[in-house]
Amino acid sequence: MNIALLGFGVVGRGVYDLVAPRSDIRVTHVLCRRDLSLPDATVTHDFQEILLDSSIDTIVEVMGGLHPAWDYVRDAILAGKNVITANKAMVAEFYDELIPLVHQKNVLFRCTAAVGGGIGWLSELERVRRCETIRKVGGIMNGTCNYILDSMTQRGLTYTEALSQAQHLGYAESNPTTDVDGIDTWHKLIISSNIAFGVSLNKHQIPVCGIRNILAEDVALFRSHGLCCKLVSTGQMQGGHFSAYVQPTLFYDDDIESTVPTNYNLITLEGNTSGRQSFYGQGAGRYPTAYNVVQDCIDFTQNHGFYSIFQGKVDICNDNRLQYYVRGSSDSWLESHTAETWGKAAITTPVTVEQMHAWCAKYPNVFMAALPERKDIQC
Ligand code: HSE
Repeated sequence: MNIALLGFGVVGRGVYDLVAPRSDIRVTHVLCRRDLSLPDATVTHDFQEILLDSSIDTIVEVMGGLHPAWDYVRDAILAGKNVITANKAMVAEFYDELIPLVHQKNVLFRCTAAVGGGIGWLSELERVRRCETIRKVGGIMNGTCNYILDSMTQRGLTYTEALSQAQHLGYAESNPTTDVDGIDTWHKLIISSNIAFGVSLNKHQIPVCGIRNILAEDVALFRSHGLCCKLVSTGQMQGGHFSAYVQPTLFYDDDIESTVPTNYNLITLEGNTSGRQSFYGQGAGRYPTAYNVVQDCIDFTQNHGFYSIFQGKVDICNDNRLQYYVRGSSDSWLESHTAETWGKAAITTPVTVEQMHAWCAKYPNVFMAALPERKDIQC
């Protein structure tokens, strides 16, 4: 197997290192903007050189961003090359075009490192689908947010202090708003749900609320009630009905989610017969992420391609009712849906996820978090 690596940053370098001792997989070309010299691979600035080289059968895209990453991936598939990527934003954004194209051109495509870094989450979804229906997926999918929330809860840091440490440790995306506003988790939820349910969720109907407005006073209130805040994604299928959303969520101190430390992820599925299974590990970092890229390469050597079928686009309806903690603004709607108050915050009566997110979208400084659902079913 001859690979061209598109990108030689944190993950690209990791893939190069992990593949080096293997005889079945060779990195023969690297596309890189920098001037770089490698002992056993041709470094080029020109993607056309890679596209036109028939000795390269597989493209590994680890450059990130939407463009030119998507343009290169699409051209490679059209040219009949197999593709592996760790780029969740690109896969989530272009899923409806990407997956049908992969099937139409009969090439291999995998993106295991795009969700959960080094956790074999997407590949496990594929295995579960072989013998049962997945009802629910989701969980803690962003290491940066978990680091911030964990540092505020366990070490009493302010949001700003914790974010700056997460950036310093290299967990955050180049633009940390992608992490703290929940967009990175949103991308990972879209990919996970699409693969788990074999469809393409209408992503414009999936609401997302991040953690940028959380304050130390919120965390102190949660602690006094025996609760811990995490940024959580949820995707559910019941009958032909789909719901999906990303939001801060409160867990009891003895829930497994509350114990997830620093930059770790905890991603959960619920299957019809297997019940609930959770996957825990490092969701980011050079070698954990590169490990899953290499796993995809090995799958290709066994002619093993995409995880699931593609049955077309489906609509989302977030009509399930939850109670929420809401601080930072108020109006007549919130007042008429307030069951009690905690300090300056309102605890709502059960309202639909759709109603709560629509309300929050009007007030950019608000912090909200869903209260725990029944302890046995919370993803
Ligand atoms: N910024 C991401 C995170 C990296 O913090 O989880 C891995 O996707």
